[in-house]
Amino acid sequence: MATHVEGLTDEVYLPPPHVAEEAHCSSMQQYDKLYQQSIEEPEAFWSRIAEQFYWQEQPAGPFCDFNFDASRGRIFIEWMKGAKTNMCYNCLDRHVENGRGDQVAFYWEGNEPADTARLTYSQLLTRVQRFGGVLHRLGVRSGDRVAIYMPMIPELLVAMLACARIGAVHSIVFAGYSADALADRILDARCRIALTADGVWRGNKLIRLKEITDRALELCTERGHRVERVVVVRHLPRLHHQTPSTAVGDQNSAQTTPQYDPQAGWDADRDVWWEDAVSDAPERCDVQWVDAEHPLFMLYTSGSTGKPKGVLHTTAGYMLYVATTFKYTFDYHPDDVYWCTADIGWITGHSYVTYGPMLNGATSVMFEGTPFYPTGDRMWQIIDKYAVTKFYTAPTAIRALMRLGDDLVLRHSRQSLKVLGSVGEPINPEAWLWYHRVVGGGRCAVVDTFWQTETGGHVLTPLPGATPTKPGSACRPFFGVQPALLDENGVEIAGEGEGYLVFRRPWPGIMRTVYGNHQRFETTYFKKFNGFYCTGDGARRDADGYLWVTGRIDDMLNVSGHLISTAQIESALIEHPAVAETAVVAAPHSVKGEGVYCFVTTKDGRPWTEQLQKELVLKVRERIAPFAAPDYLQYAPGLPKTRSGKIMRRVLRKIAQNDRDLGDVSTMADSSVIDLLFQHRCQHLK
Ligand code: PRX
Repeated sequence: MATHVEGLTDEVYLPPPHVAEEAHCSSMQQYDKLYQQSIEEPEAFWSRIAEQFYWQEQPAGPFCDFNFDASRGRIFIEWMKGAKTNMCYNCLDRHVENGRGDQVAFYWEGNEPADTARLTYSQLLTRVQRFGGVLHRLGVRSGDRVAIYMPMIPELLVAMLACARIGAVHSIVFAGYSADALADRILDARCRIALTADGVWRGNKLIRLKEITDRALELCTERGHRVERVVVVRHLPRLHHQTPSTAVGDQNSAQTTPQYDPQAGWDADRDVWWEDAVSDAPERCDVQWVDAEHPLFMLYTSGSTGKPKGVLHTTAGYMLYVATTFKYTFDYHPDDVYWCTADIGWITGHSYVTYGPMLNGATSVMFEGTPFYPTGDRMWQIIDKYAVTKFYTAPTAIRALMRLGDDLVLRHSRQSLKVLGSVGEPINPEAWLWYHRVVGGGRCAVVDTFWQTETGGHVLTPLPGATPTKPGSACRPFFGVQPALLDENGVEIAGEGEGYLVFRRPWPGIMRTVYGNHQRFETTYFKKFNGFYCTGDGARRDADGYLWVTGRIDDMLNVSGHLISTAQIESALIEHPAVAETAVVAAPHSVKGEGVYCFVTTKDGRPWTEQLQKELVLKVRERIAPFAAPDYLQYAPGLPKTRSGKIMRRVLRKIAQNDRDLGDVSTMADSSVIDLLFQHRCQHLK
């Protein structure tokens, strides 16, 4: 129940007493003290944390050095430069050497409930060493980029840790992306090696990963880049069920199982099965000690120009930051069983499935499937099966599960739960309250964590034992993070108000550059407001100093927690020969948060048929991914433009929402199109 607390304007949810009692940070006074320290003496604060990790060499220069001011030259961020360490060593060897090798690192739960596995820290270390040897043998050296296009299987963990062990840079591409999207990312990073699997079941749907990889590599060859070797995990034959039963609530249900031969496109000079490659690999693989600022991984995120950006994270700062945020945000303790439902193909998976938990020596659940398969209570079953204490998921999943009704949740105990996390998009108070009341039975702390691929880890978040929470607010900055709100002119908004959310100084986990394009890094994040890192999100500060992230203020959509640029979808649609012009905006969607709403003008009066609409959906699925597919397609006899020809998206957003209050339209070249657009709008928003 929400209560009033002296000094706060709104009603709040207090940290549950049993969570606060054991918490690393158990009061706002303690939070304030730690926060102050992290801002006033960052070196002392972070170097104390660094003592928990293994360093082959200590930093040579300043603990943190940076420049956020373009007038003083290049933008850069360095933490612990000159120190030598290794991420894999700190995630695995360190724990094994401390006698914790037999502890379970991951309970793996497959798409089918009958498919399970467990991996201890020492088993993982053995497998990582062997695979590190395979990478060496394939010619991978420190600094080389390795493309990974894999489902949520143990080999994905092994692959990323093996890269980290030998100093190679992993570039993981979410296994829901299309061949075109995979090719773009491999080409940009110039990966010589790719790692994949034969395929994976998601609910009832078979994703043919090897076939998609073959197609992507063909595209790369056509564009002048040859991937030399491909290692393929033979995953499908080891599964219990290959003809899954009917799923509940799965959009892809009732598919008939197609014939699939993953070896159809086999290239014997290039492709090798994972198990064959590791069978004669050496058992030991030495750790490559790397500089603190050595790249650990790159991960592509949408850019507003339509070309994805390879966000680059380095070693030491990212290590300090994900380990610390994991420990405090989930209030991690050694007897916890932690479960983050995100796919490792996204940043949440990198930071809070793999690195954050493993640096803390945690026991986690890794899940291959979907929340709806085989039934809509799969999540709650898994929580009870492993007695999960800390659970982390996305608002989209919460809203979709909420729709299935409370009964599916209530038939499971969920007594083990203590902390419930949310990430990826603004969580509406209704979903927050349902998560708190029904899933958490009113006994758990809910932490709404705001962050980005670029920030590496949580930057705004409540702490479960300390922060009185407000549904829908990401509350306060994490240690070391200094947020500010700016108006359009860059003037800082003090106290209550709304503006651009920016950060004043770097925390250890912030990205270092856009791979291969440092200028793009500077322009995207630092140009709009010199001296600040600009998130691209808007936020409001309330009378109590709480921050409420209101969403993107650039041309970016957040669909089910996945960022997609409007330009990216527009350039896929425009490839269709019948399309003359198109504009994409966000429209409200009751489950996905935001839906993709497309306005399309056809060429030479070509008819707006169902067939054409199907083809347009297919175009986006092929060029980007199924998750980016249009939710709404509307015929547009013309588009509202300024006199200089710029499409007025602000007006289109209003039309999509059937809001006739268009604001100032005095700059519009020809407003006669507006009525027609309202007439043609998609009537029912989902
Ligand atoms: O708009 C914000 C939204 O997701 C964006 C970052 O997306 P991505 O880089 O894909 O990373 C997602 C996982 C960290 C942000 O710019 N976002 C993320 N978390 C929240 C959020 N918006 C509101 N509240 C959040 N908790």
